[in-house]
Amino acid sequence: MSSVLATVICVVMLFWGISDAQLSPTFYASTCPNVSSIVRGVVEQAARNDVRLGAKLIRMHFHDCFVDGCDGSILLVDANGINSEQDEAPNQSVEGYGVVDDIKTAVENVCPGIVSCADILALASEILVTLAGGPTWQVPLGRRDSTTANAARTSDIPSPFETFGNLSLKFSNKELDSTDLVALSGAHTFGRSQCQFFSQRLDDTNPDPTLDTTYLQTLRQACPQGGNPSRLNNLDPTTPDDFDNNYFTNLQNNRGLLQTDQILFSTSGADTVAIVTRFANSQAAFFDSFAQSMIKLGNLSPLTGSNGEIRADCKRVN
Ligand code: HEM
Ligand SMILES: *[C@@H]1O[C@H](CO)[C@@H](O)[C@H](O)[C@H]1NC(C)=O
Ligand SMILES: *[C@@H]1O[C@H](CO)[C@@H](O)[C@H](O)[C@H]1NC(C)=O
Ligand SMILES: *[C@@H]1O[C@H](CO)[C@@H](O)[C@H](O)[C@H]1NC(C)=O
Repeated sequence: MSSVLATVICVVMLFWGISDAQLSPTFYASTCPNVSSIVRGVVEQAARNDVRLGAKLIRMHFHDCFVDGCDGSILLVDANGINSEQDEAPNQSVEGYGVVDDIKTAVENVCPGIVSCADILALASEILVTLAGGPTWQVPLGRRDSTTANAARTSDIPSPFETFGNLSLKFSNKELDSTDLVALSGAHTFGRSQCQFFSQRLDDTNPDPTLDTTYLQTLRQACPQGGNPSRLNNLDPTTPDDFDNNYFTNLQNNRGLLQTDQILFSTSGADTVAIVTRFANSQAAFFDSFAQSMIKLGNLSPLTGSNGEIRADCKRVN
């Protein structure tokens, strides 16, 4: 009898453990069934005034996930012993925090204390990618929010000056493979970059040989020496605000903006070259991989079960 009871307890604990560790698209089905439409309502409105909103929020989600997992840690500001990740160099001007607060307020109004800030970033990313013409996918949910930030770990985020080897390593450290690296880099199909993150490629005497000469002239005019290093340029010169596969055809034409974009195609012998070619030839192949890689990115060490908390204000721990 007692062994039957023990078995039952073990089985219950096993399922408990499993359900705690897994994210699921239906996580809020009974506790906040309308969460997607609430997020959609806020971001669709905000995107009308800011064509870059999708670019801003997906980048925020990426920077959140690469620092100790997708736990909303990037949203915490300096307060009560928190050393904010937002003040570190890899922030490279992440924007959009105000819209995240607006989403959170709208969600709290309907389902107080239920939906995490980490899940809001994942949901908003998917909705805005779709709105810009990109793929749609079922967003796994159930992440909880961290009670700490890890400013030092922002060094896990790749810089635009990485070598190919270092770039690959920073992804493989997160168990993201070459297909994930190429697909996720495809997010540079929209959004902007400041001159300072690629101007080393425009040198007067020694420009980057993997830069198309006409595009080089254009970029030299946009980012003159001694000019404003914060000036913004389109990451995708062909269709700057659309989520499509032109990022990859640009790479084939030596029109990748960042060095870390172009090396995916220009590193001879690298396994990323064939992947770029595949995505350039088929937007459907890109969209399919992008959706899968976003789910992998979003699954990076989430806090689940009773770990972490549901923050009331995304900027502060409860
Ligand atoms: C592969 C390594 C990556 C590097 C080195 C990198 C680097 C950068 C840099 C330097 C910028 C410009 C920032 C600025 O000027 O302030 C940028 C912008 C951006 N990145 Fe990445 N990134 C990488 C991967 C990703 C990934 C995985 C995503 C999302 C899935 C992403 C999404 C974006 C977006 C959408 C923008 C434009 C943001 C805006 O307009 O505000 N990036 N990235
Ligand atoms: C869900 O949210 C949307 C957007 O805020 C709203 O239009 C709709 O009426 C809501 N539906 C329910 C069942 O609450
Ligand atoms: C980004 O980090 C730099 C330090 O590298 C800091 O001066 C700047 O204020 C930060 N930007 C934001 C938006 O927090
Ligand atoms: C590549 O990584 C090594 C080891 O972390 C580092 O010393 C080096 O500066 C990195 N190179 C670039 C270009 O970031």
